[in-house]
Amino acid sequence: MEKKIIAIGNNKGGAGKTSTALELSYELHKRGYKTLLVDLDGQRNATIALNQKGASPTIFEVITGQAEARESIIETSAGDLLPAGSKLDTLAQELTGNGKEYALKNILDPLRKKYDFIILDLPPAINAASTNALSAADLLLIASKAEAWHLEGIGAIYENADLIKNLCNPDLDIQGIVITQYEKTTLQKAMYSNAEKIAKQIGAKVYAPIRKCSKAAEAHALHKCSGEYAPKCNTTIDYIALVDDFLKDLSV
Ligand SMILES: Nc1ncnc2c1ncn2[C@@H]1O[C@H](COP(=O)(O)OP(=O)(O)OP(=O)(O)O)[C@@H](O)[C@H]1O
Ligand SMILES: [Mg+2]
Repeated sequence: MEKKIIAIGNNKGGAGKTSTALELSYELHKRGYKTLLVDLDGQRNATIALNQKGASPTIFEVITGQAEARESIIETSAGDLLPAGSKLDTLAQELTGNGKEYALKNILDPLRKKYDFIILDLPPAINAASTNALSAADLLLIASKAEAWHLEGIGAIYENADLIKNLCNPDLDIQGIVITQYEKTTLQKAMYSNAEKIAKQIGAKVYAPIRKCSKAAEAHALHKCSGEYAPKCNTTIDYIALVDDFLKDLSV
């Protein structure tokens, strides 16, 4: 099976998950790949960043069987988007019974033939949406800041992913760690080498860091990806290099 469903996760908030999901999607789409970005966070930051706040039906209605994926998918500058709404936070109450972990997988598997890449933006929590995401994904990219408490979060998402791999999704591989919002201070350099040590322990790689840049934050405030708003800023340059490296790893 081709590795094309990529979960971007970390239970820690503000780790750069949504930024990484958006920029990966934008850059892959720009290169001509068919991409689908699935917003699985009730905060709906990816949906808002792509100017689709208020979109309906959302992934919540699709997962709970009230709408078809094709009714929800919207074309954006970062490729196709399955948008989220705040109702997603109530998913656990709606999804009950046998096979509740596979609700998203059942929606995404039939879309595999339509897309080259399906990118899942996970919430900063272990909940019904993140469990469904890890049960559906082929690969997990862990986004993290180069900060002590964020690096501890890597262990937590790794353990969670490992549990889901054993229970629900033997095909799930941990592809690597992406250090985001990176500033080349002595402390962050030390934290980056700590990330390399953690990666070694979990058999994953650490990609070259994504530098922090005020233009990237500005882009999000203006409902754009940094690739679109600031194509020459350090953040964009680094995400382009990440995509190069990632495609090489997948031998695409
Ligand atoms: N390279 C960057 N340069 C500057 N700011 C950045 C960069 N990447 C992310 N940010 C900012 O950092 C904040 C957190 O990023 P982001 O929303 O991607 O993290 P997240 O892990 O998705 O957060 P959450 O856990 O809340 O979903 C956002 O305000 C975003 O605009
Ligand atoms: Mg987010």
